[in-house]
Amino acid sequence: MLMVAMCLALLGCLQAQESKGHVSIILLGATGDLAKKYLWQGLFQLYLDEAGKGHSFSFHGAALTAPQQGQKLMDKALESLACSKDVTPSHCDELKGQFLQLSQYRQLKTAEDYETLNRDIETQVQRDGLWEAGRIFYFSVPPFAYADIARNINSSCRPRPGAWLRVVLEKPFGHDHLSAQQLASELGSFFQEEEMYRVDHYLGKQAVAQILPFRDQNRKVLDGLWNRHHVERVEIIMKETVDAEGRASFYEEYGVIRDTLQNHLTEILTLVAMELPHNISSSAAVLQHKLQAFQALRGLQKSSAILGQYQAYSGQVRQELQKPDSFQSLTPTFAGVLVHIDNLRWEGVPFILVSGKALDERVGYVRILFKNRAYCAQSERHWASEQSRCLPQQIVFYIGHGELGHPTVLVSQNLFKPYLPTQSWEEVPDQPGLRLFGRPLSDYYAYRPVREQDAYSTLLSHIFHCRKESFITTENLLASWVFWTPLLDSLALEVPRLYPGGAENGHLLDFEFSGGQLSFSQPEVLMPELGSVPKPSDFQVLRAQYRESPLITAWPEELISKLASDIEATAEQSVRRFGTFHLALSGGSSPIALFQQLATGHYSFPWAHTHLWLVDERCVPLSDPESNFQGLQAHLLQHVRVPYYNIHPMPVHLHQRLCAEEDQGAQTYASDISALVANSSFDLVLLGMGTDGHTASLFPQSPTGLDGDQLVVLTESPLRPHQRMSLSLPLINRAKKVAVLVMGRTKREITMLVSRVGHEPKKWPISGVLPLSGQLVWYMDYEAFLG
Ligand code: BG6
Repeated sequence: MLMVAMCLALLGCLQAQESKGHVSIILLGATGDLAKKYLWQGLFQLYLDEAGKGHSFSFHGAALTAPQQGQKLMDKALESLACSKDVTPSHCDELKGQFLQLSQYRQLKTAEDYETLNRDIETQVQRDGLWEAGRIFYFSVPPFAYADIARNINSSCRPRPGAWLRVVLEKPFGHDHLSAQQLASELGSFFQEEEMYRVDHYLGKQAVAQILPFRDQNRKVLDGLWNRHHVERVEIIMKETVDAEGRASFYEEYGVIRDTLQNHLTEILTLVAMELPHNISSSAAVLQHKLQAFQALRGLQKSSAILGQYQAYSGQVRQELQKPDSFQSLTPTFAGVLVHIDNLRWEGVPFILVSGKALDERVGYVRILFKNRAYCAQSERHWASEQSRCLPQQIVFYIGHGELGHPTVLVSQNLFKPYLPTQSWEEVPDQPGLRLFGRPLSDYYAYRPVREQDAYSTLLSHIFHCRKESFITTENLLASWVFWTPLLDSLALEVPRLYPGGAENGHLLDFEFSGGQLSFSQPEVLMPELGSVPKPSDFQVLRAQYRESPLITAWPEELISKLASDIEATAEQSVRRFGTFHLALSGGSSPIALFQQLATGHYSFPWAHTHLWLVDERCVPLSDPESNFQGLQAHLLQHVRVPYYNIHPMPVHLHQRLCAEEDQGAQTYASDISALVANSSFDLVLLGMGTDGHTASLFPQSPTGLDGDQLVVLTESPLRPHQRMSLSLPLINRAKKVAVLVMGRTKREITMLVSRVGHEPKKWPISGVLPLSGQLVWYMDYEAFLG
């Protein structure tokens, strides 16, 4: 579908380009900042590049301001137009004169104004005996103005049939998935997909625009290197020294993730990560591969990100938005996010995205650092940069600014000599003393553009030439929001770390990653306050009794460590005695930290002899994110080596239907247990406790599973998904050991209640957990136990 639409659009583009006629470009917001800084210059460049090739142009600067005042402001914006270095000043003046003659201001406010614009274009075309090729409307206006403008263009400013219409849109494109969807469908009611050009100006930056051509032109060498076997990590970085002063009303609503990560850095990520199309000049293929890359992104957790805010920010917001003195903003101005891509090319390779304001330097780059497995026998003095396999190997797309001050492609000399087209990229002369990414510049093959061009000039040329791969399609946009919105929601109340700004930040914003999580390297300096809340280190792991069984209580981190160590000890003991360890695990959120701890901190765990069973399962396909097995897979199984035949997911999805009685899934699971687990007695069962007293998927008043002979049962949960499969209480109670993990303040009430009740499984199924001859141990964090 996408392919067909794109091909038709492309065909339309080609026809339109071939027929050279008159092009009208309407710049809405012609007196605004972006227009002044980049857009007029970009339009001038377009005129210089294209006017001699047969098209004629007219440029209409438009805004809400009245004609006279508007013309004055626009003239001011046009004063600073410049030609490239190779044009003589007198010729440049001549060209500028021509451009100014073709550029006029007009007020575009009412529906009639748009009708007049349309009439004027038609009259001009007829009067001058021209043929209309198309119209470009550039929306350099805030998004709240989009709908009205779009309606007016659609109803009265479309060109005659056969001529094209292109509307160019600037971000923000929504605030989250829902608002982006709404905006997209609103725009979609006025324009065809192929008519819309959503700008991400980073796609016009020369180093970014070079990523795909570089991968393509060096395909032979990179084919073997561009993957998880060779890449250690990828860093996508955008550091800025400016802060958000003067933009607080925008920034306070958006914050750094929406402002730069959701768009600029994500776009770069997809260019690095996507499968390389055979033909990179096919917009359709590039966009399709991009979408595939989005689909492979692993969902982000709260712990995938760290946030910061420069200290002066809240004050600026108070001042610019007239907030009370007590107002403290939670908006992050710095973020680091760890992204993983779950496909065969990138599995396990960390992609680190960083962006922030008020940092120590302004620089942007994409750095692909390769694994280094070489040992060099010769002393370091003799290592030559182009030969030694022991020096770091990296490819950097240096977007700009920083020490180099210009876009550059850097390739370590010990990696390979890259090909870059010499008509557009030239070698950078060495600058002795300059070090980049730990090595002197002379260690790299380094190339810079022969002619530096700003991003907007490049993009305007791409719009003119219908190169849609440099723009964000609706599908692309929504895919990005689908990826970022859950993280943004989960971070909404997160308090960012404060940083002073500039060089004073020191190492405060350094961070580390392990096991899919990010954390700041340095602890935040906490001011000791009298009567302050106790810190985790103030407590030890406490041992006590709960319902006449041992209770272990601690802060979450210590509790999880203790439980993980106890499970490992039990596993080792079982394997020593019986040769195997049968472990039945619950799903839900509490055990996730445990799974991660087992995956990252227990290297001698006897996984090869461990059988993993499920305590309960939701009746959804095993690949569904709601499935307990999926949680186990994501947080544990993919990190450890359990033989496939030792993994026993519950058969909830048989004959393409979910938990149908006739399919006898529960009975099948029970027979597997009887066949493999001696006496159907698990070595360890890990349970949780719900706020209603349920455990496993055994809910209060459940007609099945609380007693009787069945080992595995189908049950109903009051919460979605309702249908469940669960081990029964009688089976659980045959286990040699049962551990119940209870965490979080929300469990406080049920913990109190259950401590007082007797054996009443109908009301509180957890109270029916009483191993016949095994041992029961409660693991509760302080919040669940003490509130
Ligand atoms: C914009 C962001 O998209 O990019 C700004 O809204 C940011 O916050 C700017 O400063 C950076 O662009 P550049 O081209 O200066 O790197």
